[in-house]
Amino acid sequence: MTKHNKNIDELARSMRQYIADPVPFVQNVLKAQPDKWQIECLRAIANHPRVAVRSGHGVGKTALESWAILWFMFTRPFPKVPCTAPTQQQLLDILWPEISKWLKRSELLDGLFDWQKTKVQNRIHPERWFATARTASKPENMAGFHEEHLLFVIDEASGVMDPIYETIEGALTTKDAKLLLCGNPTQNIGTFKRAFHEDRDLYYTIKVNCMDTDRVASAYCQRLIRQYGMDSDVVRVRVLGEFPKSEPDGLIPLELVEAAMMRDLDIDYNSMLHVGADIARFGDDETIFVPRIAGKTLGLFHYTKQDTTTTAGKLLNITKNFMRDYHKPYATIRIDDDGVGGGVTDMLRETIREQRLNIDVIACHNGGSPIDKEHYANWATEQWCNLKQRLLDEDIEIPNDDELSAQLSTRKYSIDRRGRIILEDKKTYKKRIRRSPDRADALILAFAKVRNNIDPNIAALLGGAKLYGN
Ligand SMILES: Nc1ncnc2c1ncn2[C@@H]1O[C@H](COP(=O)(O)OP(=O)(O)O)[C@@H](O)[C@H]1O
Ligand SMILES: [Mg+2]
Repeated sequence: MTKHNKNIDELARSMRQYIADPVPFVQNVLKAQPDKWQIECLRAIANHPRVAVRSGHGVGKTALESWAILWFMFTRPFPKVPCTAPTQQQLLDILWPEISKWLKRSELLDGLFDWQKTKVQNRIHPERWFATARTASKPENMAGFHEEHLLFVIDEASGVMDPIYETIEGALTTKDAKLLLCGNPTQNIGTFKRAFHEDRDLYYTIKVNCMDTDRVASAYCQRLIRQYGMDSDVVRVRVLGEFPKSEPDGLIPLELVEAAMMRDLDIDYNSMLHVGADIARFGDDETIFVPRIAGKTLGLFHYTKQDTTTTAGKLLNITKNFMRDYHKPYATIRIDDDGVGGGVTDMLRETIREQRLNIDVIACHNGGSPIDKEHYANWATEQWCNLKQRLLDEDIEIPNDDELSAQLSTRKYSIDRRGRIILEDKKTYKKRIRRSPDRADALILAFAKVRNNIDPNIAALLGGAKLYGN
C-alpha cells in the first residue's frame, strides 16, 4: 500500500468513526468539551433531520453551530452546508470567525479545509464540498442546493423571514438533509416560533436557560432580573430562553425592538445626519449619544460621570467625525434640554458659532407640547409613538444592546382623562425599574421629528431637505 493510500484509508476510517456521533469528534478533533445541552444537541443533529434550539444570550449556540458544520463537512463525502443569519454582522463577524476558531484547533481539519471570508471548502474539491455564508436578505440566497448530504444552519433564527424557510424546505428531500435552527426566541410569529409549538412534531427541540449554564455570568442574569423582573419579556428572551409574552400596557413590544436590532439597512447617502443626546443627571446615570442617517443608527456611545465641558466636546467631536466620514455638509444634534442638558446646549451653540459649523443644536423638552395635541399628552409621548410606528413600518435599524432593548420595551403608557395617550412619567418609571431610561431617550431624540433651522442654501444643496428631520 502506498503512503498516500494509507493516509486516505486512515482518513476514511476516521470519518466513519465519527459519522454517527459528533460528540467524540468535537472532543478529539476540535479539542473542546461540550456542555451538557451541547452534547444533547450534537447527538440530536446526528439522529434527527430538524433540530431547533432556543436560549438566552451567550450559552454557546454559535459555537455549537460551528462544530456541527465542521463535523458534517468532515464525515460526509461532497456535502453542502448553507448557513444564514438575519444580518451580515451575525453571519460574517460572529458565526464565520467562530468556525475559523475551531478549525484552526485541528491540524487535520486545517489541512483538509480552506477557510475563507464567506466559505469553507475542501482543498481538493472546492466546488463540490463546502460550507457557504449567505445572508437571509432574499430567498434566492438559499436556493439551488440539492445534494444528498445537506446541512442548513440558521443562526438567530427568530429574525429570519418565512420565505427563506420556504426555500430551504424545498431542498430538504434526501435522507441526509438536515436543518439546524438556533436563536434567542425574540419573535412570536414565524418558523422559529412554530418549531416549538404548532410544528413541534417535526423538530427535536432544546431550550437553554442562561442560569443553568456556567458560560453566562450569573451577575448578568441577576442584574436583568433585579431590574426588570423575572416575568419581564427582557428576562424571558435574553435570559430564560422563553418567547416574549408582550405586556399589554407596555407601549413598545419587545418583539418590535428585537426585530429592529436584527435588521440590516444600507446607508441612505441622500439623508442627513442626526445625533440624539441624553445628558446624565446626577448619581449613576449615563450620558448617551446615538447618531443616525435616515433609518439606520450608527452606534450607541455611553459615558459616565463627566463634566458639561467634556460632554459638549465629545458630542461635537463625534458629530464632526460622522459628518466627515459620511460627507455630510450639515447635521442636527438633539438634546434633552431639561436639567443638565441645558448647559451642554449653550456650550455647543457657542462653539458651533465660533467655528462656523453647519450643525443645528435642537433643544428638546419631554414635557413640551406635541405637534398633534389631540392624540398625545406631551412631546415625549408623541415621539415614543412615532418611534413605535417606525418599528412597525420595519424601516429602522437600531443598536443591538441589552439595556436599550429593556428600556424601550418596559416603558408603560395609559390614556388620560381627555382620551390622549400618555407615557408613564420618568419618575414612576425610575421607581419601578430603578434605573434611568437614558439609552431609550437618546434613541428617541435621534429619531424625534423636530423643526430644524436649516440654512436655505444648504437645504437647496441637499435637494430641498424637509422641515422636519427625517
Ligand atoms: N463548550 C465550549 N467550550 C469552550 N468554549 C465555548 C463552548 N461553548 C461556547 N464557547 C465559547 O463561548 C463564547 C460564547 O458562545 P456563543 O456560541 O457565541 O454563544 P451564543 O451564540 O449562544 O450567544 C464563544 O466564544 C464560544 O466560542
Ligand atoms: Mg450566537
